[in-house]
Amino acid sequence: MYFGEDLEREELKKLAGEKAVEYVEDGMILGLGTGSTVEYSLRKLGMLVKDGLKIKGIPTSMHTRRIAKEENIPLTTFEENPEIDLTIDGADEVDSDLNLVKGGGGALTREKIIAYHSKKVIIVVDDSKVVKALGIDFALPVEVVKFGWASTKKALEQFGWQPAKQTLEEIGCTVELRKVMGDEPFITDNGNYILDCEFQRIDNPEELEKEINNVPGVVENGLFIGLANEVIVGGKQGILTLDR
Ligand code: A5P
Repeated sequence: MYFGEDLEREELKKLAGEKAVEYVEDGMILGLGTGSTVEYSLRKLGMLVKDGLKIKGIPTSMHTRRIAKEENIPLTTFEENPEIDLTIDGADEVDSDLNLVKGGGGALTREKIIAYHSKKVIIVVDDSKVVKALGIDFALPVEVVKFGWASTKKALEQFGWQPAKQTLEEIGCTVELRKVMGDEPFITDNGNYILDCEFQRIDNPEELEKEINNVPGVVENGLFIGLANEVIVGGKQGILTLDR
């Protein structure tokens, strides 16, 4: 049964991922997102490049860089091209204001830098990612430098008890150091740690994004506020486009 559900989910991701590539035009500088949904966009883009499409991409992670290399997608840098025409990326949660939680793959800092410097950002998701409020189903990833991380973690735990406009019953933030392969901490492409912050729900994402980034040691957090222009959702009924 799970196998069938997983297959279906992959189809929905593919639908959304491939649709976004229709927005790509010849000559564009593209931000290349990270994750299993945007991988469908990258594979499709690879086919178009093979057929003669002229674009250059800036990858949001080493993982995406590898996929782009496999697909012969030409790459560039911010130094050569400081402004990006279009970024296509995935997300872990999307709310009705098109605010996002990102960073399930640990690439949130580069993803946010690239989104910020893009004229247009298209997010590709399957319908399980569209939520009423952020933070209910997915822990908020926060990238922190290694130095002092245990104290940074303690500081982040305070956020569960302080946000405005929330009652104590609704909140509560538990923070976990992300690990891989048993007990080894996950290391980001920037050489940092990820702290996953589990809230009951995030009612004030705009304030929380700024407050978290004010804690010394925090590099960036996975709240993407006002950065997405359009979200392409793959669902059982087909494609739904959400925009501002
Ligand atoms: C990577 O750090 C993330 O922001 C991804 O974009 C996000 O986790 C979505 O990934 P999937 O498409 O694999 O769910």
